[in-house]
Order: sequence, then C-alpha cells, then structure tokens
Amino acid sequence: MTNITHQRLLIIDFGSQVTQLIARRLREAKIYCEIHPYQKVTGESIRAFDPRAVILSGGPASVMDEGSPRAPDELFTMGLPLLGICYGQQVMMEQLGGKVEGEGHSEFGRAFVTPTADLPLLDGWFETGNEQVWMSHGDTVTELAEGFAPYGASPNAPYAITADVARNFYAVQFHPEVHHTPKGSVLLKNFTDLAGFTGDWTMGAYKEQAIEAIQAQVGNERVICGLSGGVDSSVAAVLIHEAIGDQLTCVFVDTGLMRQGEADEVVGMFRDNYNIPLIHADESDLFLGELDGQSDPETKRKIIGKLFIDVFEKHAKSVGGAKFLAQGTLYPDVIESVSFSGGPSVTIKSHHNVGGLPERMNMQLVEPLRDLFKDEVRALGRELGLPDSFVGRHPFPGPGLAIRCPGEITRPKLDILRKADAVYIDQIRKHGLYDEIWQAFVAILPVRTVGVMGDGRTYDFACALRAVNSVDGMTADYYPFSHEFLGETATRIINEVEGINRVTYDITSKPPGTIEWE
Ligand code: XMP
Repeated sequence: MTNITHQRLLIIDFGSQVTQLIARRLREAKIYCEIHPYQKVTGESIRAFDPRAVILSGGPASVMDEGSPRAPDELFTMGLPLLGICYGQQVMMEQLGGKVEGEGHSEFGRAFVTPTADLPLLDGWFETGNEQVWMSHGDTVTELAEGFAPYGASPNAPYAITADVARNFYAVQFHPEVHHTPKGSVLLKNFTDLAGFTGDWTMGAYKEQAIEAIQAQVGNERVICGLSGGVDSSVAAVLIHEAIGDQLTCVFVDTGLMRQGEADEVVGMFRDNYNIPLIHADESDLFLGELDGQSDPETKRKIIGKLFIDVFEKHAKSVGGAKFLAQGTLYPDVIESVSFSGGPSVTIKSHHNVGGLPERMNMQLVEPLRDLFKDEVRALGRELGLPDSFVGRHPFPGPGLAIRCPGEITRPKLDILRKADAVYIDQIRKHGLYDEIWQAFVAILPVRTVGVMGDGRTYDFACALRAVNSVDGMTADYYPFSHEFLGETATRIINEVEGINRVTYDITSKPPGTIEWE
C-alpha cells in the first residue's frame, strides 16, 4: 500500500531466518514496519521510506567475508535511532570502525547476559540478576566502534549489549525477536519508545487508510474480487466494498474443488450479511475437465491458475469491463527473501495468487492486505464486522482440494475426500480443538489398500489427516493429537465414509515437508 501515514520503522534484512519475527513483535506493539532486503536499501530509498528508526537484522554471512552485505554508509549519518541485531550488530561495528572476529567465539542457543551498566534500552531487564537470551553467532565483536560502550555480557560475547547513547545507536549480539529471549519484546519496545514511537498502528486506523488508498487507486472503475472461501479474500472483498460500494462485484468460482458445503456457506454468508453483488459461477465442469488425466502437481497448479484467470476475465467482461482484479495477497507472500547467490530462489510451488498471474491478464491488481500478517487480517475482518466463526476459519488454498488429492483427480475421489474432511473437522470441533489448530484437513492418497470389514474384504483408498500449528504458514509443526482422538477419528472416517479403509496421521513438520501435500 502506498501513502502510509503512520510512524514507520524500517527493518533492513540481511537474510536471517527470523527477520519476520522482528516485524511481528513490532506489529504486536502497534508499530508499522516493513522488511526491505539489504540489496535494495540505499540512502535514497531510506529517505523515501522516511522511517523514524531502523533495525538491522541478523544474517548468515560473516562481515569478514569479501563482498558480505553492508548497510548504506549514509544510514549512520541520518540521525536515525538504530538497533543492530546479531549480524546487524557486527555490520554496525565493522562500518563504524570497530572489530569483529571469528574463530572460537561462536555461541548457539540459550545464553545468559549479565548487566555491566545501566541503559534505558534495558528497562525491565535484569530484575533477577541476569537475563536469558537466544544466541546464534559464529563471529563476535571484539572491539567497539568509537562512541559505543558495553552494557551487558554473555560468556562468549563480552559485547552482548552495546550502545552509543548520544547517537541513539544500539547493538545486541543475541536475537530479541525470538521466543527464547523471553524479555526480547520489552527490549524492542524500549527501543521504539526511545525512538519516539507512540504505537499508532491500529486496525481502525489501517482500515480508514486502506479505504482511501483503494479509492485513490480504483477511481470510478469496476473491480472484481475472486472469493475462495478463505478468510483473506473475504476480508479483502468487504474492505473494498466499504471503499467503493457497487463498483465491486465478487465472483465465487465453484471449481468443483471446494470442501463440503463450502459454496453454500460462503455465498450464504455474503448474500445474508452484505449487499455486495455476487456472481456464483459453477465452473466445476471446466476445471475438472481440464484436470482430467493430469497427475503432476505443478501441471495441476498451472492449469488451475490459468483457468481462474480465464474465468475472472470472462466475468470482468460480463460486469461491463472491470479494470481491476482484487486479491487477498498477504505480507509474508510479498516479502522478498534475501538470496545470497543473487539467483532466483527455487520454486517449491506456484502459488496461484502470488505474482503468478500470466502477463496476458489485462487487469491490474488491487491487493489491500499486502501489508498484513494473517492474524492482522483476522483483526481487520473483525473490525469490518465479519462474524468470528468466519474470521477464525482455517486457511484454505486457492487450488482447493486439488492439492489434497495427489495423483489423478476424479469426481469420485473428490466426493470421498469431501466426506472424510467433513468428519475430521467435525471431530476437531467436537473436541474443542478447532481454534487451537492453525490448519487441518484430509488428503486422499493415490493408493488403495486391503482391509476387512465385517467378514468381507475391502480394497479402498487410504487417507492422511493433517493438522498443523503455525504462525504464518511459512514453518509448521504437526499438532500433537491424543491417540484416543486419532483412534476415534479413524474409526469414524472408516465407518462413515464409503471408499476409505485406512487412515494415517501425517507427522511431518515444515520444513522439510510442506503443509499441503502438493
Ligand atoms: P504449503 O503447502 O506451501 O502451504 O506449506 C502454506 C500455506 O499456504 C496455503 N497454500 C496456498 N494458498 N494459493 C493459496 O492461496 C495456493 O496456491 C496455495 N498453496 C498452499 C496452504 O493451505 C497453507 O496454509
């Protein structure tokens, strides 16, 4: 989104696995921030962004390596408060005249820092004498840059906490953004307080601003918004409707790959609660026809992506020429990850709603959730009056059940999958676990197994249950159901769903797995 008027904080990303957590901690403190990869940050881009403070993230490189990442030198003369974290600390010292060394200084995992002097950045710290922090560094600072003094030390990092108070520069060796630094959020909040942030990033304010930005972008043109059944597209639709009213038409594309009762639920929710023009397009013959005989995951995704565009274009014409297509793209999808090789990162899956739109598409994108994390989208949904039961729905992918049906997709398999999924979700709800789980679903496996029911032999499909906990879908852990729950659910599925005679539970985390099966 452009024209953000909130106080802004810039995070320069040097490629740490946990940079996103810095943004999350700050957003929790109602501070608007953006992550920019170091390759794209220049003095000019910083001035254009106009931050009130800058955080330099950790990263995997060593400042001693030739060509290793640096911050623009101008950053240090702009008068902005700075916080360097891990590699960010080392970069600050290196660029400001201190010294960083490798050999024998590494520290990984939990460590304890003890104070060496008082510092406002550490208000609320050291109440019990020392403080647990999470370290992950091979190199360490051995000589401070001019103006800096030490304020805390760990066994392997004499300069675990350093500051040049006069310039409002702070630099720490550990990661305050991770859970294993229990008072990390306090330190980050102290930093933003010192930088003069007032915590003006609220959903109410965001909503007003997003509405203005949508109005400015769209003018008097028409917009269509594809509803997928997921929370993101629904929130985007309601927000855009508040901004431009009947210039918006929603299209719910029934691909034949939806869950049981999904079309009725989504269309009903919109028809009953909102006065938004809604086209319910039953395109299941088109999608399932084109997918017939296809079993390669990427081919399937590409076919679905292309058909979505065809359908949107058709409806864009039918509403009198929509110039804009609205999508519920989120911030984690648009953060450019830092690639040290300079090459493109490997495509794991072509997400159909992220940058994967064919160039031939004539519509421009409206993506009002591009700045938000998933939990923020939910908060915005509540702000817009969407019912809690809807806002709290588990994420559902654009390609729908296609990516939960490895191998060939057939109508009978989809019917079996829908029924099994409905039983599984019913079980989860009955046990009061729905809101504790980030996402849960069934995948039908491309394999039949032999079973025995009554006195007869069965030869039916096997399915896999999946349930994960995650913050944003980028990493995930399997949900630790009790054996009783799993046993009861397997029995119910086999008894209630004709066509399945074996149930497995997928206990793969992400990475190395992904959440969906394809
Ligand atoms: P993976 O399987 O990549 O999924 O670990 C991470 C999260 O993204 C969802 N997902 C998608 N969402 N379009 C979407 O809108 C897609 O093509 C897509 N593929 C995966 C998935 O359900 C999980 O929440």
